[in-house]
Order: sequence, then C-alpha cells, then structure tokens
Amino acid sequence: MSIIVNNFEKMNITKIIQSKNKKKLTVITAYDALFAKLFSQSVDMILVGDSLNMSFMGETDTLSSTLDQMIYHTKAVCNGAKNSFIITDMPFGTYINKDEALRNCTKVYQQTLASAVKIEGGEDRADIIKHLTSNAIAVMGHIGLMPQYVRSEGGYKVRGKTKEDAEQLIRDAIAVEKAGAFAIVVEGVMSDVAKKITEAVNIPTIGIGAGIDTDGQVLVWSDMLGFFEEFKPKFVRHYLDGANIIKNAVNKYKEDVKNKAFPSKEEEY
Ligand code: KIV
Repeated sequence: MSIIVNNFEKMNITKIIQSKNKKKLTVITAYDALFAKLFSQSVDMILVGDSLNMSFMGETDTLSSTLDQMIYHTKAVCNGAKNSFIITDMPFGTYINKDEALRNCTKVYQQTLASAVKIEGGEDRADIIKHLTSNAIAVMGHIGLMPQYVRSEGGYKVRGKTKEDAEQLIRDAIAVEKAGAFAIVVEGVMSDVAKKITEAVNIPTIGIGAGIDTDGQVLVWSDMLGFFEEFKPKFVRHYLDGANIIKNAVNKYKEDVKNKAFPSKEEEY
C-alpha cells in the first residue's frame, strides 16, 4: 500500500520567515504545469530555476537562459500549481543594475503569478536587492556556489573552505538579509560554514549541497528523481530511478506495438 503524505499549507513571505527555527522548509524546482501540480501538494515552495537551461534545454550552463524563457516556464508552473508559493529565477544579465533589475522583475510580476524572484549574489548585489524589495518585489537571495558565476569563477567550486571565504559568505548573507530578502539559497558551501551562515541571519537559509543545518533544502527535480543520467553530484539523493523507469516503460510500449499487443480491443473505438 502506498501512502501519500500531504502536508500542504499555502506559503507566504511572513510564514516563510516565521518558520525559521520552527520547521524545515522544502523546495523543489519545476518547469512545467504537469510536474508542478504533482509537487505542489508536498513542498513549501516551487522554484522555476534557470537550471532548466541545463536539465531541459541541454545547455552546458545556465548563462544563456533568457527572461522570456523564464516567464514562459513560470506561467506553466503557475498554471499547474495554483496554490503554491512560486519563485522565478532571474536569468544571467537581467539584473546588472538597479533599473534593469526592477524593469525585468516587474515584467515577471506583470506577466506571471510568481510570488517572488531569486537573485544570485551577496554583498555585491545588495543594493540591487534593496532596490527591488523597496519596490514591492519579494526577493530570495542565492549565495555560495552561484552557477551564473561559473565562467568568472573558472568552474563550479565549493565555497567556504578558507577562513576568509567563510567570513565573506557570512557578510554576504547578512547583506542580503539587510537588503530585505525573505530567504537565501546557500549552495555548495562547507556544512560547518552553512551552519554559521544560518545562525548569522534571521531569515531562512535553503541549502543545496550545504549540509543538514540550513533551515530548509532545495533540489533540482530531475536530479532528485533520477532523470538526469550524465552526472550525480555528491549532495543529490535519488528518490526514484526515473531514467530507468521511463526507459523500461517506453521499451515495453515499443514491444507491445511491434508485437501487435497494443492497442487491444478495449482500447479501440
Ligand atoms: O536554478 C536552480 O535550479 C537553482 C537551484 C539549484 C537552487 O538555482
């Protein structure tokens, strides 16, 4: 017998902030209505991550993701998960200064039902986050390993390995909180440093590859459900053998068609 655990409670900014030190927050990415609907009854927030550019578009990084692409996928996710708290990742190059950021985030708010946007960057982006939150845009920060910095950093590098970097990350988190963000994604950070970051701020930290002590966790859905076969990062746990389940099902369909076992009499008009 399978049991479906349904802990759905519609989230808002206040509830998210208040959950700090009370309950762990769950976040998963989604890019379309079908899967967003399936995920929406279980998780606290859904992130329309620009990771879609890699996992669904097949690109090698997130940098070529566009605002129109994010708006299209956010609309789909909002259609599927009508009662969920949905965050749209702002793509690379769409928040290079305060005016651009506000113009582009306003476009997301006007064209979709997204509840919030996500911006990568710490102290360096605090003035932009402040400008957005002062103009009624809800912002989730993203510090640590920031995929949009992959070329300028020379790769995807785990952060917080030195005392200096750990201190910088704490300063980043505090700056993002002061700028008015309601939560911060902490990605690819040494777990002891992620713990210190979590203790240093009053808003929830949502970890990915940052250990157990953050206030919540986020995973890319195609990683978590085992659909992405090329590579499994150390921090990912597969909750399903998605790729093999799909391949076996499609093979079975192919065999049934070839053997004239599909469609049956019951499946025809
Ligand atoms: O784009 C994305 O999916 C993300 C998560 C990995 C946090 O930013």
